[in-house]
Amino acid sequence: MPRSRWWWTLLAFLALASAAPATAQRSSAERNIDSLLARMTLKEKVGQLNQLSVDSVPTPEELDLVRKGLVGSFLNLTGAAATHDAQHIAVTESRLKIPLIFGYDVMHGYRTIFPIPLGETASWDPEAAEAAARVAAREAAAAGVHWTFAPMVDIARDPRWGRIAEVSGEDAYLGSAMAAARVRGFQGKDVRAPDAVLATVKVFAAYGGAEGGRDYNTVDLSDRTLREVYLPPYRAGIDAGAGTVMASFNEIGGIPSTASPWLMTTVLRREWGFKGFVVSDWTAVAELLNHGVAGTRADAGKLALEAGVDMDMVSRIYVDDLPALVRAGRIPIAVVNETVRRVLSAKAALGLFDDPYHGATVEREQAALLAPAHRQLARRVAEESIVLLKNDGQRLPLGASVKTIAVIGPLADDQVSALGSWAGRGDPRDAVTPLEGIKARAGSVSVLYAKGCDITDTATAGFADAIAAAKQADVALLVLGEAGDMSGEAASRANIDLPGVQQQLLEAVHATGTPVVLVLMNGRPLTIPWAAEHVPAIVESWFLGVEAGPALAAVLFGDVSPSGKLPVTFPRSVGQIPLYYNHKNTGRPTGPDKYTSKYTDLPVTPLFPFGHGLSYTTFNYSDLRLSALRITPTGTLRASVTVTNSGSREGAEVVQLYVHDEVASVTRPVRALAGFRRVALKPGEARTVDFPLTAKELGLYNQSMKFVVEPGKFRVFVGGSSVGGLEAEFEVTPRLR
Ligand code: BGC
Repeated sequence: MPRSRWWWTLLAFLALASAAPATAQRSSAERNIDSLLARMTLKEKVGQLNQLSVDSVPTPEELDLVRKGLVGSFLNLTGAAATHDAQHIAVTESRLKIPLIFGYDVMHGYRTIFPIPLGETASWDPEAAEAAARVAAREAAAAGVHWTFAPMVDIARDPRWGRIAEVSGEDAYLGSAMAAARVRGFQGKDVRAPDAVLATVKVFAAYGGAEGGRDYNTVDLSDRTLREVYLPPYRAGIDAGAGTVMASFNEIGGIPSTASPWLMTTVLRREWGFKGFVVSDWTAVAELLNHGVAGTRADAGKLALEAGVDMDMVSRIYVDDLPALVRAGRIPIAVVNETVRRVLSAKAALGLFDDPYHGATVEREQAALLAPAHRQLARRVAEESIVLLKNDGQRLPLGASVKTIAVIGPLADDQVSALGSWAGRGDPRDAVTPLEGIKARAGSVSVLYAKGCDITDTATAGFADAIAAAKQADVALLVLGEAGDMSGEAASRANIDLPGVQQQLLEAVHATGTPVVLVLMNGRPLTIPWAAEHVPAIVESWFLGVEAGPALAAVLFGDVSPSGKLPVTFPRSVGQIPLYYNHKNTGRPTGPDKYTSKYTDLPVTPLFPFGHGLSYTTFNYSDLRLSALRITPTGTLRASVTVTNSGSREGAEVVQLYVHDEVASVTRPVRALAGFRRVALKPGEARTVDFPLTAKELGLYNQSMKFVVEPGKFRVFVGGSSVGGLEAEFEVTPRLR
């Protein structure tokens, strides 16, 4: 019998022998945890709630804490060998031999890096996102990671916020689909399996609502916006079975999430039935002092624990201060016990009491990381994530008349940026840059290269080479945008133009008269009004990961038709922010009249709308049909539409369905996404796509904040973006006449 099993059996025996309150109804795992809890000292209990970050390998002090049972989890310790060593100490040298749980940010891949989450969402392909998360889990788990701090499911309506790169954009419906898919992908069918990791739905809640798009800033939202716009993706991730939740850094309306019983207990546990555990964000328990809701570290710990935050990431407040609070009678031991029980249950759910290494071995790790099948999937997902924003005169794909291409720009050959932010244990040397990808695909086409300028520097000395290259070429392909670390955490920007002198470089190359194709690499929407007006073809490539170059080359040369659609609105100017498609009509909708809602110096419309994305082929929508013209509030209506590939190339279209409740007791968005489907079609091929519409898609929170479907007329829009489309109308009636 393996040592750990033997230990677990002994524990079960001790449980029977002791007076542990085990009833016949409790599962054996629960009974084991009861017995463990009964044997733990108060210090060992708070030790389970203590998560420390390791800098490559644990220090002697950190290992000593493991031996003493004063640490329950490490984050940032990865690698089968390193995690094995630390775990071995926990399960052989600590008194109760409780395994550690190793957490790590596996956001868009562990070693095989996929597109950043915002980019991957542009695929509108939850199955692809699930498959990518599966691969990430397989690699991470083989490398000793038990638990990822992903997916990040915040809604972001402000592209200044750097963490928009880590989320699924601005829409609750799309965000919910992606949240659930990624949780399924990370956890697999059975989280005990050696290729699964526990997922974290983060960051709870509404972290993306930071005022001014400034990271960590105050959030102040109405209950309605919170419930309608921000909360649904967290709920979707939890309904998909996510084992943990991370509390957010921000406050909402005066209450920091980390100290919010309403969020962590009332909504999360009572309303949504969440059974897992909550981890704080990095030092967020200690930050309650800066928020000004706690005067001492001990008070901060008490607030967080009582709110429902189970594990303290890095602050060391729980481990240092909770014992005294319990002894002083300021925190009931029952609260600590429940909290510890949740952490132990997660460890048991992962199977760590049976196999504390979760199947990780150096051999498995070597075989899993960057496996050819993983790279292949990364390429496919990257191809699907590319969005063709503009293609006047069918400039793309590059045709037979192109004999020389000038690849220009500071991002064209930047391996580090290709991976984007939060790139796990990704190694930039694994990344194929756009330049390399184009060269490999170019065949007899000659490829010139000039960097032109740096990403943020203001030197223009490199312009001359770039201009010379463009003059010799049939097409100038400019790869411009942001460095990979200009988005992500603590990377908010007040100005979201092309950084440095890249705009000048673009204009200088354009002035040569050589046709320009602009490829953007960025972690957020950029304001590019000049390019949108003057450059005939614009490709949004986000940060595509290790297969950036081949994926981009496949699209540029037309091996694959672009099929991505924007998961977020591109504004014309930062002055329009927040700008999102599902806005309200207002009492004075934009119109020619002066006294309507608009700007005097800029249109209210975006540069590129949510859902927008072109293809090399064309799609025709016809026959929008509703299964009924009237339904009851509990009924289901089906909307179907026929989509035909009316062009001459293969392509995939993301069919989008939006609804609008025409008259309701509270104001409703002008339209809200209520269904989408990716369909691949050969030239001339047609497919009928069918969407169910139920209370979930049609309901609203009424004035008493009750979720209901109200009788009245609804309008349905179906098309390839959030603008225009075929329309139909139906009515919800209290009863069918
Ligand atoms: C971030 C989290 C992340 C954590 C651990 C924090 O700074 O906000 O998203 O999971 O660090 O790395």
